[in-house]
Amino acid sequence: MTADPTTALREHVEFGPLTIGFDQRVLRPRPWTAAQSAWAAELLVEADPGPVLELCAGAGQIGLLAVHASDRRLVCVDANPVACAWTLQNAAAAGMADRVEVRQGDLAVMVPPSESYALVVADPPWVPAAETSRYPEDPLLAIDGGDDGLVVAAACVDVAAGRLARNGSLLIQLGTSEQVRAVDATLAADRELRLEEVRTFERGVVARFVRE
Ligand SMILES: C[S@@+](CC[C@H](N)C(=O)[O-])C[C@H]1O[C@@H](n2cnc3c(N)ncnc32)[C@H](O)[C@@H]1O
Repeated sequence: MTADPTTALREHVEFGPLTIGFDQRVLRPRPWTAAQSAWAAELLVEADPGPVLELCAGAGQIGLLAVHASDRRLVCVDANPVACAWTLQNAAAAGMADRVEVRQGDLAVMVPPSESYALVVADPPWVPAAETSRYPEDPLLAIDGGDDGLVVAAACVDVAAGRLARNGSLLIQLGTSEQVRAVDATLAADRELRLEEVRTFERGVVARFVRE
């Protein structure tokens, strides 16, 4: 698969003040997810200094909008080379290329434990593997969350827990509040992440975990 954004049909959406390019090889940006960016931006006003990490960035719009009004650095990670190419292009279009770094690969190995972040935003696939056929228009890599739907979410929690500064927040998007409870019960407590708040939106939920 070529990562060149010019080889597929380009589309764009307005995402807050940003114009975000993408094509059918990445997940179509969903307008409601600007709420995850807004929540992150609100937390960044009071957060310690330091960069922001975006896991499962897709075309990068959630992280780009989160740091847009600040001067924070943003590191975006996605396994899909096409998504990474779009994130680079979208960062440049927003005039943010000098403070956005894009890493292509499995998030479990793309963020060294020596790195520290003020905040992590994550948007992992969360559909159980047996149910992905319900979403034929979406790229499989963007929605397939493994047997229980939480395989990539678990990896996000693991990476965030090891890289967040004390009192730093992980804002993770999932499908349901039941999934948040499962993550909290099975993963977060072991890793010193406290579930602080869950916000419910029309097509998903965003949970805030705080590093103790
Ligand atoms: C639900 S989509 C979210 C994309 C984007 N944040 C959005 O809102 O459009 C999940 C993203 O995770 C990426 N992904 C899936 N598994 C991954 C992994 N193990 N490591 C890094 N990225 C992964 C997919 O390529 C996809 O872009």
